[in-house]
Amino acid sequence: MRKKIPALLAILHFVFSSVALAGTISGSPHDFLGYSGDESGEICKPCHAPHQTKPLPAPLWNQELTTDTYTMYDSTPTSLLKTAPPASIDAKMRLQPESSSKMCLSCHDGTVAHENFGDLADGAIPPHGDALTSADLGMDHPISFVYDTSLSVIERDLYDPATKLSGIVGSMGTINDDMLFEGRMECSTCHDVHNKRAVAGTKLLLKDNAGSSLCLTCHDK
Ligand code: HEC
Ligand code: HEC
Ligand code: HEC
Ligand code: HEC
Repeated sequence: MRKKIPALLAILHFVFSSVALAGTISGSPHDFLGYSGDESGEICKPCHAPHQTKPLPAPLWNQELTTDTYTMYDSTPTSLLKTAPPASIDAKMRLQPESSSKMCLSCHDGTVAHENFGDLADGAIPPHGDALTSADLGMDHPISFVYDTSLSVIERDLYDPATKLSGIVGSMGTINDDMLFEGRMECSTCHDVHNKRAVAGTKLLLKDNAGSSLCLTCHDK
């Protein structure tokens, strides 16, 4: 009997912590069923399809891609770096968005209606209100650049992503394991488009930003 109680507690803990984590796309802001102009009734389809997807290598992308040119975040490395800027890190940060961030921006920059997926091309409703970003990312957190150990060495007060734990509920992984994509910082570093790991009540954030805890994951301030 004495042995069973801790086991029961462990099970209860597991059940409750997984309940807290188990979000779904269904019912989330990315559930477009009902107003997508698509009669298939498929929740993945606005973004993915099994066949004849758009010319991106992954992940079977079905949404029309933006052709926007973006203004990127422009930092002032000479004043902020601990040492002289090597290998033009700053210039790399100003490269155009790539991979998954470009997928988010296709809808969020307002140039492509979110109904424009698959064969559909005449949609007219891009994200509206606060969900609408623009082609000017100059006032947004930098994205689409490599965040690695060497950046943390030259940059002030930045944790090493290879060793610092992400602190995401239920994970013992590092920042690199849990938040970076091939070592790169993207929109999905902070957001979970599938609402699978996102903290309920936040803007699809991987970590609640109360007390700026999301920011403090990487910035040692
Ligand atoms: C609003 C757009 C959107 C919807 C809807 C969506 N996805 Fe995704 N999906 C993405 C993006 C963007 C990525 C790229 C990785 C990332 O940013 O997390 C991705 C990546 C993936 C991947 C590869 C990486 C991973 O996370 O495993 C799989 C598999 C996947 N999605 C499956 C699905 C399935 C299945 C559905 C429907 C139940 C779905 N997605 C619905 C946008 C979407
Ligand atoms: C197919 C189009 C589409 C794609 C692709 C897409 N979004 Fe969205 N997203 C939307 C729309 C539309 C809304 C607003 C929904 C609403 O207002 O109900 C939204 C809402 C959001 C919100 C606000 C959530 C909230 O709780 O208010 C966030 C954050 C977000 N998206 C991030 C992302 C990120 C990050 C990606 C890429 C990984 C992405 N989106 C990809 C269309 C898209
Ligand atoms: C460094 C972390 C981080 C990155 C990277 C990031 N975001 Fe966010 N985003 C946030 C936080 C934090 C909020 C919540 C702000 C708030 O509640 O005031 C947010 C809010 C949003 C919202 C909701 C706006 C609203 O007020 O309803 C959208 C849409 C969004 N982000 C899209 C994106 C897209 C698209 C990208 C990539 C181009 C991106 N985010 C990259 C941290 C990030
Ligand atoms: C996943 C890690 C991560 C998270 C989370 C994160 N940042 Fe960052 N942040 C970075 C990296 C990496 C850079 C690029 C540093 C550089 O300039 O080389 C950066 C850059 C910045 C800069 C610009 C510094 C400059 O050189 O101009 C500011 C300010 C900033 N972040 C604030 C925030 C805030 C506020 C949040 C929370 C909403 C946040 N960050 C969340 C990793 C992160």
